[in-house]
Amino acid sequence: MIGKTALVTGGGSGIGRSAAIAFGAAGANVVVADVDEAGGEETAALIKDAGGKAIFVPADVSRSNDVESMVEATIAAYGGLNCAFNNAGIQGALDQTADCTEENWDRITGINLKGVWLSMKYEITHMLKNGGGAIVNNSSNFGLVGSNGMPAYSAAKHGVIGLTKTAALEYAQSGIRVNAVCPGPVQTPLVDKILSAQPDADSIIDSIKEREPIGRFGQPEEIATAVVWLCSPEASFVVGAILPVDGGFVAQ
Ligand SMILES: NC(=O)c1ccc[n+]([C@@H]2O[C@H](COP(=O)([O-])OP(=O)(O)OC[C@H]3O[C@@H](n4cnc5c(N)ncnc54)[C@H](O)[C@@H]3O)[C@@H](O)[C@H]2O)c1
Repeated sequence: MIGKTALVTGGGSGIGRSAAIAFGAAGANVVVADVDEAGGEETAALIKDAGGKAIFVPADVSRSNDVESMVEATIAAYGGLNCAFNNAGIQGALDQTADCTEENWDRITGINLKGVWLSMKYEITHMLKNGGGAIVNNSSNFGLVGSNGMPAYSAAKHGVIGLTKTAALEYAQSGIRVNAVCPGPVQTPLVDKILSAQPDADSIIDSIKEREPIGRFGQPEEIATAVVWLCSPEASFVVGAILPVDGGFVAQ
C-alpha cells in the first residue's frame, strides 16, 4: 500500500475509521470522507499521529456533487486514487415493511445504496483513466439474508451486492477489482446507538451473541483487515467476491 491512495467513505466512525487507520498503517495516503466533520477530522488526526498521511474531506455520499468533489479532492491531494472502501451507511428507523415510512425508505436507500453507486461512478471514472484500482463495498450479513424490522436496510444491502457483482464483471478487464464485505454484528457507535435506545438492551445483546456461531460481536478491526487485504495485490485474483465477515452468521 506504500504510495497508494485509499478513500474511505464514512471514515469518521466505526468500521470506516478502523479501515482508514488500517490503510494508513499499511502505508497508504488516506482520504477520510464523512458528513461528520469532527469524526472525520479525528480519524485523519489518528492516522497522522501514528506517522501516516491523511486528509478529511466532507461529503454526503447520497449527493452526487459531494461525491464528485470527494474524488476530485482525493486526486488534488495525492495525485490519484487506487483503493476505495465505500462504507458510509446508516441503520435508519426500525420498522416492519408495512410500517416503514417513505421518508425512512428514501433516506436509507439514498445513503446505503445510491451512495455506493455514486461513489463507484466517480471512483471508476477516475480509475479507468489511471491504470485501474480496487474497490470494496460495505454490504452486511443483511445483504445476504432478510432482517425483521429493517426492510429498507436489507433491500439496500442486497442491492449493494448486485451492484458489486455487476461492476466487477464490467471492469474486470480494465484492471479494476470490485468486491464486497458483509459484516455481521460489529461493536460500533451505530450498534451502540440502536441498543442504547432499547429498554431491554442487555437481553438483545445476549440474543445477538446467541445467534452468532462464534458467540460474540465482531470488532471493527476484524472487518478492516479483510478490506485492506481485498484491496491489496495479494487479492489480485479476487473479483466480484461477496465476503461474509460475520462470525459464521450466514453459514447457518
Ligand atoms: N456495525 C455493524 O454491526 C454493521 C454490520 C453490517 C454492516 N455494517 C455497515 O458498515 C458500515 C459502517 O457502519 P458502522 O457500524 O461503522 O457505523 P457508524 O455509525 O459507526 O459509522 C458510519 C459513518 O458513516 C457516516 N455517514 C452516515 N451517513 C453518511 C453520508 N450520507 N455520507 C457520508 N458519511 C455518512 C457517519 O457519519 C459515520 O461516521 C455501514 O454501511 C453499515 O451498514 C455495520
